[in-house]
Order: sequence, then C-alpha cells, then structure tokens
Amino acid sequence: MVHIGVLIVSPIQLLDIAPVDLFAMLTKEYFNDCKLPQPLVDVALSDSDFTISYIGHSGAGTVANTTARLGLSINTSLDDPAVAPGKLDILVIPGPPPGMKPEEEVLDFVRKHVDSGGDLLTICTGIFVAAYASVLDGRNATGSRGIEDWLERDFPKVKWQDKRYVNDGKIWTSGGITNGMDMVAVYMRQRWPGALSDTVLTMADVVIRPQEYDTGKLGTNAWWVLHIFKAWLRGLTKTKTID
Ligand SMILES: *[C@@H]1O[C@H](CO)[C@@H](O)[C@H](O)[C@H]1NC(C)=O
Ligand SMILES: *[C@@H]1O[C@H](CO)[C@@H](O)[C@H](O)[C@H]1NC(C)=O
Ligand SMILES: *[C@@H]1O[C@H](CO)[C@@H](O)[C@H](O)[C@H]1NC(C)=O
Repeated sequence: MVHIGVLIVSPIQLLDIAPVDLFAMLTKEYFNDCKLPQPLVDVALSDSDFTISYIGHSGAGTVANTTARLGLSINTSLDDPAVAPGKLDILVIPGPPPGMKPEEEVLDFVRKHVDSGGDLLTICTGIFVAAYASVLDGRNATGSRGIEDWLERDFPKVKWQDKRYVNDGKIWTSGGITNGMDMVAVYMRQRWPGALSDTVLTMADVVIRPQEYDTGKLGTNAWWVLHIFKAWLRGLTKTKTID
C-alpha cells in the first residue's frame, strides 16, 4: 500500500506539483498504457494499492487555483479519516507564494503527519508551510535560493543549506521550482531502487542534477544584481524616448 497526500496551499505553482506525476508513473496502469513488456509491468506498483489524495483547507469538492490558471480539484479535507495521522506514507507540499502563512489547521496537519512518522517532501516555497509548522527545527533543510536570507531570518532554528535538495531523516526539502524534480527522482530511487524507478525516470527523461549547485551563492547573487541593474538602465532609456 502506498498512499501519497499532496497538500495544496493555493495558489500553487503548477511546475512545483509536476513531480507528483513521477509517482503516478510507478503504477501498473501506466506501464500497461505504455505497452511495456510484462517483466517490467510485474515490478510496477499495483493500482489498487496506490492512492494519491489532494488535500486542502477548503475541503473536498473545491477547486484550488494555480499560477498557470489551471484549477486543481481538492478531493480530501484535512479531517478526512483517510488522511489522518499515520495513514499517509508520503506528504508532498508544493509551493504557495513565498511567506504566505497557512491556517493553523494546515500547520497542525503537517505536524501530526511528521510526528506519526510519515515522509515529508517540500518543493520550493512549500518550505514555508513546513517551517511555519516548526517541523524543521534543528534539522538540515533548504528552500529556493532567492529566499534563503528570508528563511534564515524568519526560521533561525533550522540548519539551512545552500543545496538543490536536502534530506534529513524522513524530511526532504528542495530548492526553487524544478529542483523538486531532482529531489523526487532521488527519493524514488531510494524508496523503490532498481528497475521500477529506473524505468520511470528513463521514460520521463529526468536527468538528476548534482545536489550541489554548479554556481556559488555569490555568483547567483551577482547575476541578480547585474540583471536588475540592466533592467533599470533599460527603464531609464525607455523613459527618455517616451519623453
Ligand atoms: C482522491 O482522488 C483519488 C483519485 O481519484 C483517489 O484515488 C483517492 O482515493 C481520493 N481520496 C479521497 C480521500 O477521497
Ligand atoms: C487565479 O489566479 C490568477 C492569477 O494569480 C487570478 O488572476 C485569478 O483571478 C485566480 N482565479 C481564481 C478563481 O481565484
Ligand atoms: C546536516 O548538514 C551538515 C552539513 O552539511 C552535515 O555535516 C550533517 O551530517 C547533516 N545532518 C544530517 C542529519 O543530514
């Protein structure tokens, strides 16, 4: 049995939730649809033992907004017995706008899931939900590079790392947006090693990038400063031509 919960704190970024699809690809249903040979179908997860629940404060039957304007249907409320503490194997939290503090019920849900021993995976600004729930205190974690200073200031008890993804026990956190794909791919390889994860990652053509970023933090900051400066200069020239 594998039960994955996706906690939606809307509006979320569609790219952040995209890695959930890699989990869905682990099933026999998907392998059969792709007409993969029987020996591979045999290693895939049984459909009846695989569930994904989309959980939100707004409750079952509501639609959550995304940055891409695509509505996501929430089918599970926070107090649904199906997702009570201990019921979910994995809780994935895709990113809402940075700094947004979710309702206390949402934070309580996250805390109880972690206390009951389930895995927690945050993607990009989903880190705020985990940090506000205080489940990262004393642990190694990471978030989007652009908000690292903000995280360090607001959540000083967390041991923040400048990495594409960080794993500390049952908690996995990732950097900005697409870094969640690397994290989920590494997580899958660890949880379902061998042919199953290898097949899914090959089909999805996911190439796992190194955990360390290829540019230092200073280099990235310099890149931002340079581009903001360039945009400012362009703004100045535009104003002049309009005048
Ligand atoms: C949510 O929907 C998925 C897909 O239809 C289903 O597998 C899952 O059981 C549902 N969860 C709940 C709690 O109804
Ligand atoms: C969804 O989000 C977009 C942009 O963030 C916004 O323009 C739109 O009004 C939102 N729609 C709903 C139904 O909230
Ligand atoms: C936390 O990060 C530090 C520095 O990278 C590392 O030495 C330590 O082993 C990590 N701890 C865990 C539990 O991952």
